[in-house]
Amino acid sequence: MSTASSENSNIIQGDVKTRIDRWLARYPDDQKQSAVIAALRIVQEVNGGHLTRDLMDQVASYLEMTPISVYEVATFYSNFEHKPVGRHKICLCTNISCMLRGSDELLDYLQKKLGVGVGEVTADGKFSIKKVECLGACGGAPMMQVGKVYYEDLTETRLDVILDNLE
Ligand code: FES
Repeated sequence: MSTASSENSNIIQGDVKTRIDRWLARYPDDQKQSAVIAALRIVQEVNGGHLTRDLMDQVASYLEMTPISVYEVATFYSNFEHKPVGRHKICLCTNISCMLRGSDELLDYLQKKLGVGVGEVTADGKFSIKKVECLGACGGAPMMQVGKVYYEDLTETRLDVILDNLE
C-alpha cells in the first residue's frame, strides 16, 4: 500500500465523477458503499492502473465510508494494485490446471524475455508481470489475462506474438 505521502489531486470530478455517479444511481442514497468496487476500479484505471492511499481516502470520503472500510475492499481483491503497473499488466495464471500445462516454465520465459520479475515493471513502462489464481479458463490452460482479454493455450511462440502485437 502506498503511504499517506502519496497525494493525488482531487480525482473525483468531471468524467470520473460522472462514471461513479452512474453506479451510485443504482443504489439507495443510504447505501453508497455498494458502489465501492466500481468506484475503486474507475479511480485505479484513471490513475494508470494502481491505487494510492490518498485515492482510497477520496473514494471513502465520496461514498461516505470510513477509510478502513475502503482499504479492506481494496486489499482483499487481487485486481486492485497498490504500486505502479505496466501499461499492459500481464496476469499469468499459475494455478493448478495452468501449472500442469506449463505455466511455471512460461513464467520463467516471460521474466527472461522482459527482463523483470513478478511485480515489476519494464523500464519503458510497457509491461508488468503478475501471478494470479485461477481465472476460470482452465480449459484453455495455460492462460493469461492482459487488460480485458484472455489469451489461452499459451506457448512461448504464442506469447512472443501476443506481446509483439500489444502497442
Ligand atoms: S487454473 Fe488457470 S485458468 Fe484455471
